[in-house]
This record gives sequence, structure tokens and C-alpha cells, in this order.
Amino acid sequence: MRILITGALGQLGTALQQALADHQLTLVDLPEVDITEREMLFNQMAETRPELVIHSAAYTNVDGCAKDPALAYKVNGLGTQNVALACQAFGAEMVHISTNEVFSGDRPEGYQEWMPLNPANPYGSSKAAAEKHVLNILQRFYIVRTAWLFAPGGRNFIHAIINRAKSAGQLRVVSDEIGSPTYVIDLAAAIAQLIQTRQYGIYHFTNAGSCSRWAFANEILRLAGLAHVENTPILSDEYQRASTPPLFGVIHNIAGAAIGIEFRPWQEALASYIETYVS
Ligand SMILES: NC(=O)c1ccc[n+]([C@@H]2O[C@H](COP(=O)([O-])OP(=O)(O)OC[C@H]3O[C@@H](n4cnc5c(N)ncnc54)[C@H](OP(=O)(O)O)[C@@H]3O)[C@@H](O)[C@H]2O)c1
Repeated sequence: MRILITGALGQLGTALQQALADHQLTLVDLPEVDITEREMLFNQMAETRPELVIHSAAYTNVDGCAKDPALAYKVNGLGTQNVALACQAFGAEMVHISTNEVFSGDRPEGYQEWMPLNPANPYGSSKAAAEKHVLNILQRFYIVRTAWLFAPGGRNFIHAIINRAKSAGQLRVVSDEIGSPTYVIDLAAAIAQLIQTRQYGIYHFTNAGSCSRWAFANEILRLAGLAHVENTPILSDEYQRASTPPLFGVIHNIAGAAIGIEFRPWQEALASYIETYVS
């Protein structure tokens, strides 16, 4: 299939390049193609005529989004509108990558695919607006919500925990924020499977199971041979940041499981990551 990937240099975009290597890929990212510039996008589509667009580009700095919600909406909301319009104009299917932060996070039981959106913060609002544009413009789309991505490359929670443990010898990590850590390799493989199905709709794709940030950090320390490092649980109120993450950010995979797309537990995915990327 001819597939165009936006945000191709990002964490997920990079994993998608590998998972979809059998397809004919067009990779776009800043600065060559800015999704907020409609003409750039349309020119790229006219040139390469993709049958499917995987829209992974986004302004993902959640604290930056909280400080500048208009910019968040410009990139995530209007940028996605441009991608959806381009798909409509050129007859392409679309995979839109969304987030668990479209939900407020006040449901300890978590969220299923059909639940109404109630964004947790400005990043979540911009991504909820993006979903609405996709729903309004297209008929042949997949919306894939995910959460807590980790990927090779360094600037992620895993390396932050390991570096801090080594430099400070102790940690303080929030214990009241719950989510599902997700390995981009597993997510990209699931998306590769999903696009073969033509079962359009909304999906919740994360690694199976859930944990607090504190428990996630403990497992990282254990697997990295740093279990002796003291890790003190704190409440998110004690950790000031511009954005408010959803406290219960677990999203359940009902729709994917119904068509045979399931994920291994996050602990297994993390062990595989650490074995490969942490020396
Ligand atoms: N990371 C997570 O934990 C997480 C959780 C839930 C959902 N998601 C969603 O998953 C998707 C992929 O996330 P990720 O972690 O792979 O993100 P990422 O690593 O930040 O990659 C996003 C890519 O989009 C590019 N981009 C930003 N603004 C753009 C614009 N105006 N035009 C074109 N490209 C632009 C970025 O370029 P620059 O680097 O140059 O800015 C970057 O290469 C996003 O839609 C995100 O909202 C992520």
C-alpha cells in the first residue's frame, strides 16, 4: 500500500517506518511539511498519492500546550483538520493517533472506546478537537488512542528514571497517576495489523495492564539492576507542572481485542526495551 506518515521522525513515526517497511512509504515531518500549512500538505499528497495517511505528527509537549492552548489547537486541532481534508480530497484512508488525555481521568475503572470525551487539559482538548475534525470530515478512518509511550532515543521516562537514580541515588515519583506504559514497537505492530482490516472506528491501543508512575519507576529500577535505589512515592500535588495529567488514564482495548489485536503486558514490553536499549 502507498502510505504517507506525518511526524515520521517522532517516537511512533520512527517505529512505524520499521513496522511498515513492506509498504511504499512517504515520510514527512518538519520543516519540509508543516501540517498547519494546508498547501504544503496538499502538494505532498498530490505528488505521492497515498492510499492511507498515518497522522502521528502533533505538538506533544503537554506543559507547552498548557502554557499556549492556542498553539496546541493550531497544530493538533487545525493541523489534523488539514490532514483529514487532504485525505478527503485525495481519497485516502486515515489513521489518526490520539491520546488517553481526551478523558478527564476521574474514573478509577478507566475508559472504553465509546465513552464521551472530557479532556483532562489543553493538550487533551486540542486532541479531542482533532478527533472531532476527523469524525466530521471522513468516513474511512481509524482513531487510535494510546498513552505513556516509550521508545528508543533517550528522552523518555525510562531514561529519566535511570539517569536520576544514578546521579542522585534516590527518587521521588508520583504514585497517584495511573496509566498503561506502551512500547512504540508494539503499538506500531498493532497499527500495521489494523490497517489490513478496513474495520474503521475508534481503538484503544496500549500495552496490557496498568500501574502508577511510581510502580513503573520501581519496575524500571528492578530491570536495570538499580532496585537498591530508594524510590519515595509522592502525590501529584507535590509535583508542580503546567499541565494536569489524568489521574486514572487507563483506556481499555475492547474494539481491537474483538478483531484479534491484543497487547502483551507492559512489564514484558518494558523488559524487552531494557534488554535492548539499556546497557
Ligand atoms: N508520547 C506519548 O506518550 C503519547 C501518548 C499518547 C498519545 N500520543 C500521540 O501519539 C502521536 C505520536 O507521539 P510521539 O510521542 O511519537 O510524538 P513526537 O515524538 O513528539 O513526534 C511528533 C512529531 O511531529 C512533528 N511535528 C510537530 N509539529 C508539527 C507540524 N506542525 N507539522 C509537521 N510535523 C510536526 C514533530 O517534529 P518536531 O520534533 O520537530 O517538533 C515530531 O517529529 C502523537 O499524535 C501524540 O499526540 C503520544
